[in-house]
Amino acid sequence: MKIILKKGDLKNAPKGYVRINFTEEAKGKNRIVKEKGTETLEIGVGKFAELNRRKFMILCRTIINTAKANGIKKITMQAGGVGKLFKDLKGVALEELAQLAAENLEMANFEFNFFKTKPEEGWNAVEEILLYGTFSPSIEKAMRKGQEIGKAVNACRVLANTPGGDMTPTLLAKAAKEAVKGLPVRVTTLGEKEMKKLGMGAVLGVAKGSTEEPTFTIMEYKGSAGKPIVLAGKGVTFDSGGLNLKSSNGIYEMHMDMSGAAAAIHSVVLAARLKLKKHVIALLPSVENMPGNNAVRPGDILKSLSGKTIEVTGTDAEGRLILADALTYAKRFKPSVVIDIATLTGAAHVALGDHASALMTRDDALADELSLYGEASGDYVWRLPLWDEYEEKVKGTFADVANIALGPASRHGGAIDGGMFLWQFAKELNCPWAHLDIAPKMTSVPSDELAKGAAGTPVRLLIHFIEHYAVLNKD
Ligand code: BES
Ligand code: ZN
Ligand code: ZN
Repeated sequence: MKIILKKGDLKNAPKGYVRINFTEEAKGKNRIVKEKGTETLEIGVGKFAELNRRKFMILCRTIINTAKANGIKKITMQAGGVGKLFKDLKGVALEELAQLAAENLEMANFEFNFFKTKPEEGWNAVEEILLYGTFSPSIEKAMRKGQEIGKAVNACRVLANTPGGDMTPTLLAKAAKEAVKGLPVRVTTLGEKEMKKLGMGAVLGVAKGSTEEPTFTIMEYKGSAGKPIVLAGKGVTFDSGGLNLKSSNGIYEMHMDMSGAAAAIHSVVLAARLKLKKHVIALLPSVENMPGNNAVRPGDILKSLSGKTIEVTGTDAEGRLILADALTYAKRFKPSVVIDIATLTGAAHVALGDHASALMTRDDALADELSLYGEASGDYVWRLPLWDEYEEKVKGTFADVANIALGPASRHGGAIDGGMFLWQFAKELNCPWAHLDIAPKMTSVPSDELAKGAAGTPVRLLIHFIEHYAVLNKD
């Protein structure tokens, strides 16, 4: 989508562009007004005074969705002045508003059409936005940056939406390589042989039930010297549950179980594209979790890369197994901070509903920072505890740790059990660590006003974090 910034007034807009106007009518009250050869799409915003950052993001998506619903391909808007897009929002600078607008306009214009036949009239998408006003260089820059971010979110959605048969661990590794073309990002992939040599027993254990070879991909963008920020993304390209096979309902959409890896890939790509002066590494352990003849059995014991033994009390808690090895692997980079991103538990979704990912960390400063960036970016997160009291539940009976708690408490606080399991490995990192359970935001819900399927969470939060972490971080 082209966003063209034009100096001056919307009145000068050429023919063929539908004008967007904002009214204080209730949200959802939209109408098209035709007069004197011009067409105006009026969008109900509700009381302008009640608009805030959160609502503004949705408003930008509404503009695109309403245009699309009416088959409109070219729109024009006024950035400042009467009927303006850039509202006066308390605590939101104009540059921030411009960036948010561009991000959300791009996100709303995305649909996953790759496997569909193109209709004769073309895809239903807005092709051009003419934005009138006076744009300082900093606003123009913010707008372009917002577009890049929106596109990265959409690229993440493409990877996550791709069906499991077309996105195996090998193909995910290939996708990471392709995504960095022309950018200063180094990509290395370890195969089964290398992982065996290293002793990544947890990744290999999960992979055993599938004919697809596991991969472990390392991406490095060195925009500056110094300790790296390490992102570890869950890359389960299809989660059948393994021998603890999922139900028909549960197995649906499990090709998106590599959403954490997809977000990590496109956050690194974006950091490089934006030329951020940061050192960022993504670790992408990737497997297909299948119930084949060689599959890991409930009760089997795996030896992880850390040396800790893991009792596989359930084969469907596979994400934490592969991430355990990734967290141990992260140690070799002497990171300044490690964040793992995973569609780890349905329990996180049960706990938080549809509007926030779960954040778990033992580091209060990091929790505050991530919460703040979540709010600013639109990838909202909410903290769950990782207190010592919960540690008992991840102790193994016959091994050092167990991947699922057994007994009557097994159904209580399942998202925390996942986080607590990962903490057993993260505690050896000697740097701040956070776990983002993005299962609640794996797919969009209607109120997100995004296309069905992958939501592209939390690319916006991660890029915000990569950009600002060192500023707030004292070391
Ligand atoms: N990938 C799933 C979690 C998931 C479910 C993500 C639905 C997104 C939507 C994960 O591997 C899993 O199966 N978790 C189990 C954990 C349980 C066995 C302790 C779950 O949530 O039921
Ligand atoms: Zn699972
Ligand atoms: Zn899974």
